[in-house]
Amino acid sequence: MPKKVVSAVAAGLLAASFLTACSTGGGGSAGGGDGRLVLGFAQVGAESGWRTANTKSVRESAEEAGVTLKFSDAQQKQENQIKAIRSFIQQRVDVIAFSPVVESGWDTVLKEAKNAKIPVVLTDRAIDSKDTSLYTTFLGSDFVEEGKKAGDWLTEEYKGKDGTVNIVELQGTTGSAPANDRRAGFAQAVKGDPKFKVVASQTGDFTRAKGKEVMQAFLKSQPDIDVLYAHNDDMALGAIQAIEEAGKKPGTDIKVISVDGIKDAFQAMADGKINVVVECNPLLGDQLMDLAKKVSKGESVPARVKVDEGVFTQDQAAAALPDRKY
Ligand code: AHR
Repeated sequence: MPKKVVSAVAAGLLAASFLTACSTGGGGSAGGGDGRLVLGFAQVGAESGWRTANTKSVRESAEEAGVTLKFSDAQQKQENQIKAIRSFIQQRVDVIAFSPVVESGWDTVLKEAKNAKIPVVLTDRAIDSKDTSLYTTFLGSDFVEEGKKAGDWLTEEYKGKDGTVNIVELQGTTGSAPANDRRAGFAQAVKGDPKFKVVASQTGDFTRAKGKEVMQAFLKSQPDIDVLYAHNDDMALGAIQAIEEAGKKPGTDIKVISVDGIKDAFQAMADGKINVVVECNPLLGDQLMDLAKKVSKGESVPARVKVDEGVFTQDQAAAALPDRKY
């Protein structure tokens, strides 16, 4: 066969196989030709019980949905997540999903994904970018609302009581959406009443070890702490150890407000050591697989998918504990 004809046939075959692969959702070279959707997922890390439950949910749902999952753990570092996203682009996965470590600094890499025509789904955390065309949808909690719920519980708890309420705050990872939003929501809820004073606020990076370390410092620098507001359970649980080691009773001498709702925190509530937990649901796997399948086929999806969540007090904790999934 003449050379020109051979290359025309080869080009035709290549185009045909590319189209078939795209229509079956196994479009990228990452697909391995089995027609399964290939999802590249760049996770934040393994900083908390919440995160462990979230990773488990994503892995299990991918398995059940017949999705090939390429998973990367960024160890709480933005540069690792950027590298992972670039690698997913190179592998030509069908969809990229990620939980951004911090809110800003994503435009460049997301433009690369857009140019490669790979849809991006934000899960759990949002980004701070004016260009909303850089991602297709955002699936996750309303963190401002969570902060407000925490503040609302506090204002209700101290309703009609006089005297200053000194609050220390353990913030999540600096620059992350949950840290920024939970802080803002809480401040909004308590700002109407001048008796609430945040006397110290520092990051504990969403980990138990850091929560304990920062609480130890708070206990040394602040002689009169009434309330601890921790942006997640792990930091609250670390702080509880620090409070007990300082000879005080968490939940009584210092009221403890936390966010997430992991089993350990429910146990601490049942033991009277945490007063209230605002729920943040990590079980996003099924919704993520559903969205990934839809966006890979070009189906329209809502720009924002919120998760329903509640608030748990001590009297509800013991009853809810046996059914707690994470
Ligand atoms: O983005 C969700 C937050 O990240 C969780 O509240 C926290 O525990 C996790 O590390």
